[in-house]
Amino acid sequence: MRFETALSYDEFAYAQKFAATSLINLLKIHKQDFENIYEIGAGSGVLTKLILSTLNYQKITLNDLYKSEFMAKFETQIGDITSLNLPKVDLIISSSVFQWIDDLEALKNRLHASLKPNGILAFSMFCGGTLEELSSYTKQGLSYKNSNEIRQIFEDKFEVLSVKKDKFVVKFNSLKELLNHLKQTGVNNINGKFRLTKSSFKELENHFNGEFHLTYNFVNLICKKRELQ
Ligand SMILES: C[S@@+](CC[C@H](N)C(=O)[O-])C[C@H]1O[C@@H](n2cnc3c(N)ncnc32)[C@H](O)[C@@H]1O
Repeated sequence: MRFETALSYDEFAYAQKFAATSLINLLKIHKQDFENIYEIGAGSGVLTKLILSTLNYQKITLNDLYKSEFMAKFETQIGDITSLNLPKVDLIISSSVFQWIDDLEALKNRLHASLKPNGILAFSMFCGGTLEELSSYTKQGLSYKNSNEIRQIFEDKFEVLSVKKDKFVVKFNSLKELLNHLKQTGVNNINGKFRLTKSSFKELENHFNGEFHLTYNFVNLICKKRELQ
């Protein structure tokens, strides 16, 4: 998966926009004023733009594996979040990224250490059932965690202030349109092994039975750092 090659990401990322909006709306119920914000996996700025228009803060740092054009105007920390030394901040926020992190437990420990006392971790991530329309056909789906598993990972070191599950279904007119959407958003559910031939295209088309839908299930968590004894 290479998001840097997904040039039309902004135009096609309906589900990611929905998840980011849902996250920011949930966060602002709890807190809107911060000193230092750190965003993980900012990409083309879908969530960042909502942060800028909704939250009050003094400083923001954007992280991603690659520096997008959007990120050029901001202070950045480029690299894999699982191995960077983060600055001390009072909000860590991320949307549509954590589903790609293999060891979420280890990341949680790093994030906990980077938050100031009472700091907030707010994130949305795709969870179980996402792109099930494809994985039910290919039997090669990504292993999205379910929302309970995700909550359990975080609740020993964080007080979970809110958990909100949501679902976004994108509808297409044809299989071609659907596959183009996946390509443009850099997402696929097929671990790179699955190749479409003319006959498997037809087979996949039949699998959709005239209803070209993709489901994105996601969960938002707003967590407050626990001070451990
Ligand atoms: C689906 S995009 C989401 C972008 C943006 N947050 C949004 O809401 O649209 C996922 C982003 O996470 C970044 N990413 C994936 N794994 C990462 C990692 N280990 N460290 C930092 N960024 C990562 C990708 O490069 C990509 O820009």
